[in-house]
Amino acid sequence: MPLTEAIEALKAGRFVLVHDDKGRENEIDMVVAAEHVTPAHIAAMRQDAGGLLCLAIANEVTTKLGLVYMHDMIASMGKVNPVFSRLVEGRAAYGDKPSFSISVNHRNTFTGITDQDRALTISEMAKVCKRIDNGGIEEFARNFRAPGHVPVLIAARNLLSDRNGHTELCVYLMKLANMTPAVAICEMMDSQTHRALSIEKALAYAKKSGMPLVEASELKEAHQRAKVA
Ligand code: 5RP
Ligand code: CA
Ligand code: ZN
Repeated sequence: MPLTEAIEALKAGRFVLVHDDKGRENEIDMVVAAEHVTPAHIAAMRQDAGGLLCLAIANEVTTKLGLVYMHDMIASMGKVNPVFSRLVEGRAAYGDKPSFSISVNHRNTFTGITDQDRALTISEMAKVCKRIDNGGIEEFARNFRAPGHVPVLIAARNLLSDRNGHTELCVYLMKLANMTPAVAICEMMDSQTHRALSIEKALAYAKKSGMPLVEASELKEAHQRAKVA
């Protein structure tokens, strides 16, 4: 799948599917630009993906917002209770540390979980990211609260040179699209097998829905090419 199709879809507010790697999670995430998220996108991700709906943000933005990784926050709690230190020992089975930071809700949400509420939180977070050097930091503190119902994921500083998760793959796609580097992502699950959706089923879904499916290898090649250029 040419990356240009995926970039066009993101720009138009349409979904893209991103497969990481058979040797990693081997999962396909449903992905949409945060700046275009509507309640209908949230409903589609709940119904057709069904995993955990997260908001991945570029490292240079989360750094300005003062966000840190959840595993570092939990580790620092080890001073209070040693169980916290034990909880953050080790990595996930596929080798990476999680990219989770805090979870947030916009202050104008009610429960925070409805399609309307999550769309508001995500689209307003996109505005914060877009205006990061122009009032966004103050907007974040004023208009959001934590914990909430939208987990924020922090992309590794050097993206695919540092980590090859959906967090980095999808933030890199946003950068290729020249868009605000904040992106809503949700793993595709299979209600028949009760496992992650297989790549074969995801390809069939992509064909039926017209969504471009991007392989991590394509993004890694583009990232590599950009580094040597
Ligand atoms: C959050 C996750 C997902 O796998 C998501 O794709 C982001 O994680 P990663 O960057 O590790 O792929 O765990 O639901
Ligand atoms: Ca995961
Ligand atoms: Zn993932």
